[in-house]
Amino acid sequence: MDKENKLINEFDLKLIGELHLGLERQGPGSPEMTIKALSFLDDLDKNPRVADLGCGTGGQTMILAQNIGGNITGVDFLPDFIKIFNENAKKFNLQERVKGVVGSMENLSFQKEEFDLIWSEGAIAGIGFEKGLNYWKGFLKKDGCVALTYESWFTDERPAEIEKWWTDNVPEINTIGHNISVIQKAGYRLVAAFALPEKCWTDYFIPREAAGKSLLEKYAGNKTVEDFIAKMRYEAELYSKYKQYYGYVFYIGKKI
Ligand SMILES: C[S@@+](CC[C@H](N)C(=O)[O-])C[C@H]1O[C@@H](n2cnc3c(N)ncnc32)[C@H](O)[C@@H]1O
Repeated sequence: MDKENKLINEFDLKLIGELHLGLERQGPGSPEMTIKALSFLDDLDKNPRVADLGCGTGGQTMILAQNIGGNITGVDFLPDFIKIFNENAKKFNLQERVKGVVGSMENLSFQKEEFDLIWSEGAIAGIGFEKGLNYWKGFLKKDGCVALTYESWFTDERPAEIEKWWTDNVPEINTIGHNISVIQKAGYRLVAAFALPEKCWTDYFIPREAAGKSLLEKYAGNKTVEDFIAKMRYEAELYSKYKQYYGYVFYIGKKI
C-alpha cells in the first residue's frame, strides 16, 4: 500500500472508531439474539473459557457474561473500543470475569485448545469467513463451539446494485447454504443457523446516523468525513431497499 493510501486507510479506521465509540453496538445485533444463540449451547461447561473476537465496546459480551459463568476475554484491534469495553465490564460489576485486550483476531496470543466457546458478532469478515473458522478452531477444545454472525445472502440471485455493494465490501459474501458447507469443511458440526431480524439493523442504523451527524459537525468541510458518512448513509439506504436479499446470520458450530 502506498503512503497516501495508508494514511487514508488509517483516517477511515479512526473515523469508524469515532463514529461507533458512543454506540452500544458497533454492528447489527441485540441482547435477545445473543441469548437465543446461547440457548443452543445446552452442554456448555458451567465455568467456560470464552473469547469474544472483534468484541467492539462489548455490548454482546456483557449480555453473554450475565447469562453464563466462567471467564470471557474480548479481543479488538481498536484500543479506544477496548478502553470502553473494560469500563463497561466495571459498570456491570463483571470485571473479575470479563477482560478486554487489544489484539488482532488473526494473530491470537492464546493457548491452543484453550476455549470452550469462541463468540464473534459481526467481525469475522475482518479476517475472512473460511480463514477465521479454520484459524480459530485451533484455539477451541474438542467439542468446543463457535458462535458468530456473518453477512449472508438469503437468495441465490439479487439485483446488481446490492451485489456490487457487498462484493466490494465483503468479497467472500455467500449464501447461507454455502456458508454452512464452509463451516462443515472446516471441521465443525452445524448446531444452528438463524437470521437476525430487521430490528437488529434498524436499532444499529438509527444511533449511527445521529453519531454521523455529530461527526459531520465536528469535521465541518472535511471531504473525507463527508464521503465516509455518505457511504454509511448509502449502506442504510441499501438495507431498506434490499433487506429481503441479505442479512446477518448467526451460525453456531461444534468442533468435531
Ligand atoms: C461490526 S463490528 C462488531 C462489534 C461487536 N462485536 C458488535 O457486534 O457490536 C466489528 C469489530 O471487529 C473489529 N475488528 C475488525 N477486524 C479486526 C481484526 N483483524 N482484529 C481484531 N478486531 C477486528 C472492529 O474493530 C470492530 O470492533
